[in-house]
Amino acid sequence: MILGALARTSPPRYAGAVTRVPSRPKRSKAPGPAALNPPEGVAVHVGDCRQVLPTLPEVKAAAFDLIFADPPFNWNRAYDQWDDALPEDDYLRFTYDWIDLCHGALKPGGSFWINIPDDWAAEIVVHLKRTRSMTLQNWCVWHYRFGQNATGRFINSKVHALYFIKPGAKHTWNAAEILEPSDRLSIYGDPRTLEKRDGMPPGHRLPMDVWYGKYWGRVQGNNKERRGYHDNQLPEVYLARVIRACSNPGDLVLDPFLGSGTTGVVAHNLKRRFVGVEFSIENAKRAVDRIIKGPVRSLDAPAESSAIFPKRRAIKRPGGSSTDAEET
Ligand SMILES: C[S@@+](CC[C@H](N)C(=O)[O-])C[C@H]1O[C@@H](n2cnc3c(N)ncnc32)[C@H](O)[C@@H]1O
Repeated sequence: MILGALARTSPPRYAGAVTRVPSRPKRSKAPGPAALNPPEGVAVHVGDCRQVLPTLPEVKAAAFDLIFADPPFNWNRAYDQWDDALPEDDYLRFTYDWIDLCHGALKPGGSFWINIPDDWAAEIVVHLKRTRSMTLQNWCVWHYRFGQNATGRFINSKVHALYFIKPGAKHTWNAAEILEPSDRLSIYGDPRTLEKRDGMPPGHRLPMDVWYGKYWGRVQGNNKERRGYHDNQLPEVYLARVIRACSNPGDLVLDPFLGSGTTGVVAHNLKRRFVGVEFSIENAKRAVDRIIKGPVRSLDAPAESSAIFPKRRAIKRPGGSSTDAEET
């Protein structure tokens, strides 16, 4: 296993790439030498993940416990190197190619998360369920309130977080690592939640499948997490939830589209071994730098309720019970 090394594989352009004028000028010059050394337990490889992954021993050995992928969405974003405006068929071919490589790299029982917009979610679900027999464990939604404005249709405010499991062995699920205070207790003051016997600590429950809340917004503007060079950063709390729930310390985690390095930052901080692949040498260097610096947020499960209603006032029933809460 080549951990602790920054390997470089030459980044060939995607064969079906179209020529376009980027909305911002490309900021990267010719790739420089791979000068940075990631910390022990972390490997970062530079190149097209479709070329890099088949060369990695951990992929050949199907050794990954958890894969998290946040690919380019083909939204014509001005990525440092990657062309983000492929013809639709080419983008789908690209998508199925990297997905199949990731599927092969996973252990039986391994977890595979894909962060993907409406445009491609359906195709990916059908592909993984029907041709790779993966189990769709959850179809989560990452909800944010700072989407691109629109006037002719509803404003986009979500990305799908698709959670698959590779059959063949028991999967890792650490419920206790990601619990949050329940709405029932914190908003409605319902005492029954203190007595429930579902194995969860009193007043707590698993998060719901729509994810939002403090520090869950898109990483924009003057957000403390923001790295200037990269405008597609995921929030650290998102990766903390995925990595805590679906892997254990010492497990091997892969991100084939490292970007600004969020998965590596969180995985390394939570003591997982990590392999990242990134097409742009500049992004890869900055990601390594960020992994060394560590997270900005607390990666612990939230202490606050994610309820969207203010706390409600208890009302007295004629019989003396006060378990109902007043509608506001
Ligand atoms: C949406 S961003 C990932 C953002 C990341 N999750 C984060 O929080 O910073 C996608 C990244 O994938 C990289 N990329 C695009 N195509 C790639 C490919 N074929 N192989 C590896 N990396 C690629 C882009 O350069 C970009 O940095």
